[in-house]
Amino acid sequence: MRRHINTNLIHAGISEDELTGALSVPIYTAATFRQKELGQTKAGYEYGRSGNPTRKALEALIADLEEGTDGFAFASGLAAITTIMFLFKSGDKILISQNVYGGTFRILDKIFKNFGISYEFSDTSNLKLLAQKFSRDKSVKGLIIESPANPILSITDIAGASKIAKKHDALIIVDNTFMTPYLQKPLALGADIVVHSATKYLGGHSDVIAGLVAVKNKELAEKIKFYQNAAGSVLPPIDSWLLIRGIKTLGVRLDRHNENAEYIAKFLQNHKAVSEIYYPGLKNSKGYKIHKKQAAGSGGIISFILKDNYDIKRFFDSLKLIALAESLGGVESLACHPASMTHASIPKEIRDKIGISEKMIRLSVGIEDKKDIAEDLEQAIKNAARRLRS
Ligand SMILES: Cc1ncc(COP(=O)(O)O)c(C=O)c1O
Repeated sequence: MRRHINTNLIHAGISEDELTGALSVPIYTAATFRQKELGQTKAGYEYGRSGNPTRKALEALIADLEEGTDGFAFASGLAAITTIMFLFKSGDKILISQNVYGGTFRILDKIFKNFGISYEFSDTSNLKLLAQKFSRDKSVKGLIIESPANPILSITDIAGASKIAKKHDALIIVDNTFMTPYLQKPLALGADIVVHSATKYLGGHSDVIAGLVAVKNKELAEKIKFYQNAAGSVLPPIDSWLLIRGIKTLGVRLDRHNENAEYIAKFLQNHKAVSEIYYPGLKNSKGYKIHKKQAAGSGGIISFILKDNYDIKRFFDSLKLIALAESLGGVESLACHPASMTHASIPKEIRDKIGISEKMIRLSVGIEDKKDIAEDLEQAIKNAARRLRS
C-alpha cells in the first residue's frame, strides 16, 4: 500500500535503529568500523566518509520522499551541486535557468569553466527557446533548472523541459530547494537528478548547512556514490540527524509557510507602496497555471519592489520581527536584498537583464502569526516612506 507524504516524512527511509529499536536513529559518530575479517564488514560500513548509519538513514529518507532509487547527503547544497557536476566532462555545455541561485552560477563560471565545461543561461520558462538552444548546440549535455527560480520566482514546466533534455540525451537536474518533495516531485515529472539546499525547508530551523541529492536510477546512483566518496564532502552524522528530525515536521511547517505567504502576498499586492510582486500563488503571476499543475503549493518565498518614493535601506533598517539575513526556509521570517546578498555573485549587467532589480526585496515568510509578520512589514514600509519626505 502506497503511503501518503505526511506519513512518509516520519516513517520512510530507515526510521528506527535496527539494533536497539530506538525510534530516533542514533547519531553514530564513528570514523571507522571493526571488520569481521579481511574484506568482510559487519553491517556494510568500513570508513565514515564512504558510509555512516545516520547519514544512510537520511539518504534512504530523501530517496523515498523524492521517489528516486538512491539518495546522498552532502556538507552543503553547493557541495551537492559540485559533486553532480563531476558527471560532466571537458567539452560539455550546461544550460542553466536564468535566475539560478548565485552560488550555482559561481561554481560554473569560476570553477568548472576552467576545466572546459561551459554554461549558458536560458530562459527555461520558454520551452521553445530551450528546444532551440538544444537543437543548435550538440555540446549541451546538461540542464540545471529551478522552479520557482529565485528571486523572481519564474516557473519552468519541468515535464516539458525534461522531454526536451531527454530528446537530446542530456541530463536534467532540478534544484527543488524552494518546493521540497512535499510540494513538488521533479523525478516523477521526468527529471534525472534532484538537488536540495537542505539548509532551507528540509532542515527548517536555520541550524544546519546541508545538501541532499536523489537520483532516478541505479546507474546515476553508482556514479554519484563514487564521486561522493572520492571528493569527500559528506554530511556529518550530527547534521544528518538534525535533518532527519527537521524533515519529520516538514508537512506541518510547509502548510503554515504556504498559508502565511499567501496572506502576505495578498497584503503586499494590495499595498499602495508596492510596485511589483512576485509570488507563484497569485493568479495573475506568470507561470501560475504551470506551477499549479506541477506543484501542490506555492511555498513561502515572496519578492517585491517598493515604489520609487520608498527608501529600501530604511525599510530593512526598520524591520523588527523579520530578520535581515541570508538564507530562507526556516521557521523564522527573513528578509534579504538579492542584488547585494544571494545574487551578488551574478554580474550587475546579467542581474539587470534577468530582472533582479537593485530595489528588490525577498521575503522568506516564516511560521509566526501571519498578522505579526504583516504588521512588521507595514511599520517598516511606513518608515521607509517617511525618510524621503523629511
Ligand atoms: C536554490 C538554492 N540552491 C542551492 C543553494 C546552496 O545551498 P547551501 O547554502 O546549502 O550550500 C541555495 C542557498 O541559498 C539555494 O537557495
